[in-house]
Amino acid sequence: MGPTRARIGLYRQTNMSDKVYIFDTTLRDAEQVPGCQLNTIEKIEVARQLEKLGVDIIEAGFPISSPGDFNSVVEISKAVTNPTICALTRAVKKDIDVAAQSLEFAKRGRIHTGIGTSTYHIYEKLRMTPETVMEQAVEAVKYARRFVDDVEFYAEDAGRTDEEFLARVVEAVIAAGATVVNIPDTTGYCLPSEYGAKIAYLMNNVPNIDKAIISTHCHNDLGMATANTLAAVQNGARQVEVTINGLGERAGNTALEEVVMAIKCHKNLDFEIGIDSKQIITTSKLVSNLMRMPVQANKAIVGRNAFAHSSGIHQDGVLKSRETYEIIDPEDVGVDQSSIVLTARSGRAALKHHLSEIGYNPDNEELDEIYQRFLELADKKKMVTTRDLEVLIGTASSRRRMSIQLTGLQIVCGKSTVPTATVQISFDGDTFTETACGNGPVDAAITAVKNITKRRVHIEEFLIQAITRGSDDLGKVHMSISHKGKMYHGFGANTDIVTASVESFIDAISKIA
Ligand code: KIV
Ligand code: ZN
Repeated sequence: MGPTRARIGLYRQTNMSDKVYIFDTTLRDAEQVPGCQLNTIEKIEVARQLEKLGVDIIEAGFPISSPGDFNSVVEISKAVTNPTICALTRAVKKDIDVAAQSLEFAKRGRIHTGIGTSTYHIYEKLRMTPETVMEQAVEAVKYARRFVDDVEFYAEDAGRTDEEFLARVVEAVIAAGATVVNIPDTTGYCLPSEYGAKIAYLMNNVPNIDKAIISTHCHNDLGMATANTLAAVQNGARQVEVTINGLGERAGNTALEEVVMAIKCHKNLDFEIGIDSKQIITTSKLVSNLMRMPVQANKAIVGRNAFAHSSGIHQDGVLKSRETYEIIDPEDVGVDQSSIVLTARSGRAALKHHLSEIGYNPDNEELDEIYQRFLELADKKKMVTTRDLEVLIGTASSRRRMSIQLTGLQIVCGKSTVPTATVQISFDGDTFTETACGNGPVDAAITAVKNITKRRVHIEEFLIQAITRGSDDLGKVHMSISHKGKMYHGFGANTDIVTASVESFIDAISKIA
């Protein structure tokens, strides 16, 4: 189970394949965050997904902390088969007893015990001495080994622990039977160079280091958790403690998806990891939903914008060759494809690409027309969606059919105002203007259109719908009118619902002739 023994001291130069174990602590370090609590059923759902993702170890909880946590470790142990199930304890016998009990059904169980080793922890929190901390650490590991063969020891606040003392602790706990030794940067304080050097120091100065795996556990208080984790791996650590979406205490823990994809992208790192990266997005969404923690849009790998290209230049580049602006194939993390987001800065190439994705291949003239409509809409809406495009295609083709065009519309309405509309229409090349009042702005505008076209029509059905979400949304109007016993249907779409209504009415009456 240990790292390749002969490589101590050679890590910086070697380029050989080596397994890096993925230890997921979403159900322990992240789950203890206020607001992120899960019930047992939800934890089982996450654990099953983590198994699908291919994590090696699931830290399932801190069993002494509550009956709920105890029960979750029991149930997760029953529910998953492949990953090792790990239970956290303090270096205290009764914690270890309870953890051992909770792991009764685990195919492979691990007890993760430990104590603070920095001067802050030793003197201020624990009010002990380095020697008594060392004794308690050794006792805890020995005691845990009575129950399981796999015992991980954590030196809490190792990031701020004196190297020489840390090396002595690591040596002592390995001698006591620890199979894995965790070097947490509990406060997220270390720089990558410091944390990497700390791991290298241990690899080079702990005589029995080859009997255990060194693990990283980084917090993100300074935004360096992933960088620290990778620095540790490059210096000999072979287990990484991570969480989905980087959730965890305060600013969170190292994000699983970041470390995994950094290793996968950098082939020269040549580490073996058992993760099925195509499960990353599904896992991220599940955790985000169940823990009610939205993922920030620009979050690496799993954020909504992680594969979204919005500037025209980038969109053009990606359409020509994905690699110009993408280092990861979105499909590798379970995203169907990179999204060329349509905004006011998108060019015709991006629009054409999107239209062809929904099966629409306009000729150049029609593309120009849709593009004009698209720009008008994109100026009003932050993002133009596929649904919006479908509507634009519909309105562009119906406008091409129409001999009557709405060329101007001005509305006066509001509380204590008689709704009045001035409509300008071009009809077979001539322009007509008419002002009318009504019981509302739509009624006033439609009366004005009726006065211009002199058609005796009756509105039979009038349906207004918002398409996506938000107050900037595109409104869609379907109208059915009757004329001399026949029905005619019209359609309009616009961010201005009165304009959409008038266009829909005009679309219907233009079909009469
Ligand atoms: O951050 C930390 O030090 C921890 C330990 C309990 C492993 O979460
Ligand atoms: Zn932690």
